[in-house]
Amino acid sequence: MRLSDCHNIADFREFARRRLPWPVFDYIDGAADDELTKARNTDAFSSCDLVPDVLAGVAEIDTSITVLGRKSALPIILSPTALQRVFHWQGERAVAAAAEKFGLWFGISSLATVSIEEVGAMGSNPKMFQLYVHKDKGLNTSMIERCKEAKFDCMTLTVDTIVGGKRERCLRSGFSSPPKFTPSSLLSYAVRPRWALDYLLREKFRLPNLDTHVSAGTSQSISIQGYFTDMLDQSLDWDMAARIRQDWGGTFCLKGVMSAKDARRAVEIGANAIMISNHGGRQLDGSRAPFDQLREIVDAVGGEIEIICDGGVRRGTHVLKSLAAGATCASGGRLYLYALAAAGQAGVERAIGILQEEIVRDMKLMGVTRLDQLTPDRLRWR
Ligand code: FNR
Ligand code: LAC
Repeated sequence: MRLSDCHNIADFREFARRRLPWPVFDYIDGAADDELTKARNTDAFSSCDLVPDVLAGVAEIDTSITVLGRKSALPIILSPTALQRVFHWQGERAVAAAAEKFGLWFGISSLATVSIEEVGAMGSNPKMFQLYVHKDKGLNTSMIERCKEAKFDCMTLTVDTIVGGKRERCLRSGFSSPPKFTPSSLLSYAVRPRWALDYLLREKFRLPNLDTHVSAGTSQSISIQGYFTDMLDQSLDWDMAARIRQDWGGTFCLKGVMSAKDARRAVEIGANAIMISNHGGRQLDGSRAPFDQLREIVDAVGGEIEIICDGGVRRGTHVLKSLAAGATCASGGRLYLYALAAAGQAGVERAIGILQEEIVRDMKLMGVTRLDQLTPDRLRWR
């Protein structure tokens, strides 16, 4: 399979499956329990239909939005995802470069494999840091201060991982951070020599935003499910979120809000945005898909806070439906992660290019020249 054979996100998923050791592919592709929520996240977009206008004169269109106080060339945010240098040796560097090329927000995880300082110094496009609140309070303070120093544009507090979701594919494969080459998994790595040589011979794996304070995840292999449960502060509550919001002082987003009640609380603590998300189905299986929940959230707090619809996005039409239903923007992880794993920066650039083409084509076929013309009356729910 070659990069030129990839014409949609599903093609990149297949390319990644052929390129990665299966434990690594399953970490990206997998989700919690029966993976029902992950499936519904994408299926939800087929619960409504777009109603196009014609003869609208669409020779010139504008695909840009302003979100989290910064201009974005497309209504898509590349959501923060962990361990990117495990998927491809270029890791977050590749995704940051692609985001810069297309003028998009780019987010790094607390569990990023490239440092806050390095990413902060990259490009002029807006950057988000995704904070996991650890039991080690000094670590939390360190990450916030480092992001201030590195002039990150947004702090995004993830709130749906108070314990690890049951990632059964990872339980079977023994996937951990860093990956362990056990007798049972050795074969899976040996049959992917290109990945194995890159992983073993290039820059050593580390979690540079965490290993200043903790060894778990870097020098001490641990499952992600175990990392969440052992390392994250389960007492995290609204008072702590409000304090973090104050400490940070800049643009602030809560990622993983799903109830209208919590969306209201997010407004009350002064968050600029919420990412309605179920973590790509990787946490509470059986929870509602963000796109299914979107209208309820818009009815509750639309106009008072920006609403980012995160998860399941694989097509330009998914993005347009999210905006028509009231989202400020859409976001996703696997929409660029499969491409990263498959072909590094060139892969991510191709994937974003494909989504850009789809958004342009779909806007023209919808008869809109600007994204704010996508209003709820352009949708019909089945
Ligand atoms: C994630 N996600 C995630 N979220 C977060 O807040 N911090 C993190 O470190 C990670 N890590 C991570 C790794 C991998 C491999 C995946 C697939 C996802 C969740 C991510 O930000 C986003 O919410 C989901 O990926 C959205 O679903 P889709 O777009 O992947 O369907
Ligand atoms: C995951 C964590 C790292 O979903 O957010 O794997």
